[in-house]
Amino acid sequence: MKLSDTLPSNAAPIIAIDGPAGAGKSSVAVRLAGTLAIPYLDTGAMYRAVGLMAYREGWRPPLDPASDGPAVASLSEGRLRLEPGAERMQVWVDEVEVTDEIRSPECSEMASAVSALSEVRRALVPEQRRMGLLKGGVMEGRDIGSVVFPDALLKVFLTASAQTRAKRRYEELVARGLDVTLEEVLKDQAERDLRDSSRADSPLQVASGAVVVDTSALSLDQVVERLAGLFLDLREAGLSAASTDVKKK
Ligand code: DC
Repeated sequence: MKLSDTLPSNAAPIIAIDGPAGAGKSSVAVRLAGTLAIPYLDTGAMYRAVGLMAYREGWRPPLDPASDGPAVASLSEGRLRLEPGAERMQVWVDEVEVTDEIRSPECSEMASAVSALSEVRRALVPEQRRMGLLKGGVMEGRDIGSVVFPDALLKVFLTASAQTRAKRRYEELVARGLDVTLEEVLKDQAERDLRDSSRADSPLQVASGAVVVDTSALSLDQVVERLAGLFLDLREAGLSAASTDVKKK
């Protein structure tokens, strides 16, 4: 099967959720997938796992695309396993679970650095397409609606103010016992935002046709309800268009 970026007409529907860190993508993706009883895939977890592997091998940011790209990309070959958990993506490297480890600040840094390497994206994107084509579902990341599945049934760009996003991240890190300040989180976030949206390959951007949702003043339930409604409307419209086509034949 050729893994093109064009979805076959009978493919299971895909909801693409992109946006900056802290916009609430993961919580929304997990809850939305549960509500609609469809799979979910957090593609950031894949970049985080490659970041962890590179970190363990001694790489530290900044990375050099020419000299580090091919070697870092080859790290992931055949060593990654992902499964959707009840609250987040579960990840294994060499069959050892790294679900918690990939969420550390060091891994966030490394994930951002490795995700800017074209070779790494060329290794992971076909795998993401394969998983999406197999079962459809909610996929979250930075380039799902723009690069991985530009034909997704519903494309969403989830965002929130920088303060709101940093506060959410800060509270999450403090709850995990990490000693950080809100200022540090804001600074790291600004650096990561800049790197994710200014990189040459697949930068974070609002995909054409995406619905932009600002979650600053919305609860998780409100966001999920809105997206589930949009998805069901689009699916219904698609189904009735398909049945009209069949009747015409
Ligand atoms: O969503 P996250 O914070 O777990 O993502 C980790 C890093 O991976 C982040 O710096 C952005 C990058 N990423 C990406 O470049 N493309 C994706 N589809 C998903 C994540």
